[in-house]
Amino acid sequence: MSQRKIHYAGPWITEAEVAAVAEAAQNGFYENYRLHASKLEKKICEYLGVRHCLAVNSGTAAMHLGLASLGIGPGDEVIVPDASCVATALAVAYTGATPIFADVDPETWCLAPDSVRRCLSPRSKALMPVHWNGHPCAMDDLLDIAQKHQLVVMEDGAPALGAEYRGRKIGTLGDTASFSFQGAKIAIAGQGGAFVTNRDDAILKARQLASYGRTDSVMTYWSDFIGFNYGMPNLPAALAAAQMDRIEELLAKKRQIWAWYEARLGDAPNVKLIREAPGTKSTYCYPPMLLKPGARVTRAELFAKLKLDNIDARPAQPRQSPMPMFQHKGDTPVCALIETHGVLLPGAFCLTEEDVALVCRRIRELT
Ligand SMILES: Cc1ncc(COP(=O)(O)O)c(C=O)c1O
Repeated sequence: MSQRKIHYAGPWITEAEVAAVAEAAQNGFYENYRLHASKLEKKICEYLGVRHCLAVNSGTAAMHLGLASLGIGPGDEVIVPDASCVATALAVAYTGATPIFADVDPETWCLAPDSVRRCLSPRSKALMPVHWNGHPCAMDDLLDIAQKHQLVVMEDGAPALGAEYRGRKIGTLGDTASFSFQGAKIAIAGQGGAFVTNRDDAILKARQLASYGRTDSVMTYWSDFIGFNYGMPNLPAALAAAQMDRIEELLAKKRQIWAWYEARLGDAPNVKLIREAPGTKSTYCYPPMLLKPGARVTRAELFAKLKLDNIDARPAQPRQSPMPMFQHKGDTPVCALIETHGVLLPGAFCLTEEDVALVCRRIRELT
């Protein structure tokens, strides 16, 4: 076994982040109890060019707020891609609405507009483009569908902070959007998330929902509806804020890792790299690859052999629709293929070119 573990995912932390967290631990209480969370919100607003940001304690919470703040609730249907982190459909379920599962594009693994059209019904109220693995969705087509059918759009940009669609930042294209600062994302806090929107009504509602439904309408600490406790603590916010100062460096490293894969696996016969669509810029948070059905190994065999070299590659996430808690069963053959043949290559920030070269050499030999 090679000595060094080739990690699937993990952050790039420098002295600057360590100093920021130490400073927050020493001074981030009393009147400063939200200082770092506010700083993080300001940095995200400036970076994305969006009016409002609320730092919360997970990307899942941000997605829930993104839908709930737009009035999505029981009786509504929300169209989501079947291939995603299950958090996407869970956020829909938290509102009492029903997730309806659409297929994805085989080239990008992101929501396929044609499949979305087939999922529409009189109860459709919202669309959730998930910029899966950091690849931007086909937003022009999706926004067109949303406009024609009066759907609100909540972008799930969990791994896509810094991704761009035709020169516009992901997270600024729909009504609301969410990002994740979980430890395997681009900028990290360990756990955490951001809710963003340009809509004044949505941020007001999201702020209330995130703090116990508090409106203070009768007196201080008064709630008028059932809310949640979704606020982001100051310490992880300090970490994420310090990472935001290095966002360009972080994105450049992820794209560099992808370029190393592209150079060595781009023409490999039995695998297909899943690339960003033309006119878009992915974060390549999790480098995606399809093991072609004609390959000499199964996916399980591939992972087992890679493990012998201390290489941690992972399966793409399963479809959500077969999970027992969801009623709608999707007609999603591309997602089904990804479920059995999708591979997420190691993409941790600590990888070197030699690490990626070893992964590629083994994949070529094995497939
Ligand atoms: C596409 C997608 N959506 C949502 C989430 C959930 O974010 P969090 O773990 O911060 O709740 C993740 C990953 O964690 C994700 O990859």
